[in-house]
Amino acid sequence: MRPSHNDSPLAFVAIQAALHAGQILRKGFGSYFSVATKINALDLVTEFDKASEESIINFIRSHFPSHAFLAEESGESQTKDAPVLWIIDPLDGTLNFAHHIPFFAISIAAYVNNHVEVGVIYQPNTNELFVAHRGHGAYLNGTRMHVSTIQDPQYAVGATGFPYGMSANREKSVAQFEKFLDVGNPIRIVGSAAINLAYVASGRFDTFWGTNLSPWDVAAGKLLVEEAGGQVSFSDGTPHDMFRQNTIVASNGHLHQSILDILK
Ligand code: IPD
Ligand code: CA
Ligand code: CA
Repeated sequence: MRPSHNDSPLAFVAIQAALHAGQILRKGFGSYFSVATKINALDLVTEFDKASEESIINFIRSHFPSHAFLAEESGESQTKDAPVLWIIDPLDGTLNFAHHIPFFAISIAAYVNNHVEVGVIYQPNTNELFVAHRGHGAYLNGTRMHVSTIQDPQYAVGATGFPYGMSANREKSVAQFEKFLDVGNPIRIVGSAAINLAYVASGRFDTFWGTNLSPWDVAAGKLLVEEAGGQVSFSDGTPHDMFRQNTIVASNGHLHQSILDILK
């Protein structure tokens, strides 16, 4: 699971940054640490979100001093004229981490010329590294991965997540959830958008939908799904744009239209 010399320089550095941040989170997981709130009582940030982010940015910057950053905890660095924008969620699943629930991940994407070129998601507690390189496929711990082959929505396992500010946008989230309940399929809520997308890419989940997600939640995961043969769009079927917060739908492709129909 080490970075290989077949990886491009962007992928090589992203992988090393993610693995190193993973060590920081693994060490911190289950320990006592300070927790602060952000927009509401459930939107948390721990000292490990910050330590992970600092380690990722410092590492990437030491290799690519001219690159820019859009990271959840420190925001956007000076981007003008930068050849690459790194989009980083240093700990996706903070609520889980803070409650000692072992589902969280690091998400790192290299955005070049209006496209995510490299996407890396690392789940430290399972030691699983998901890597996608535009045009070169998606890999789980070095082995090529593909979305599931399920075609009949009846057999689909779906995943979703609720935004922390859900009460402000309750109707939309609840209405979408109800529509899925009506279909009767199993739905998983693991508490990390990045893991949800990585699991669609690796065929563990057949579909995922989520609202109010930020670029750092989905940048790497979207490329993983696409490079694994799946499909990502907004819930009205228009192309997904990570800088807009409409409902994202990711699927194995076969089920995409059925999910869009359910969410209509
Ligand atoms: C959150 C997770 C969660 C999703 C929330 C996100 P964070 O990210 O991805 O699954 O439902 O909307 O904010 O705050 O743990 O990085
Ligand atoms: Ca997140
Ligand atoms: Ca986060």
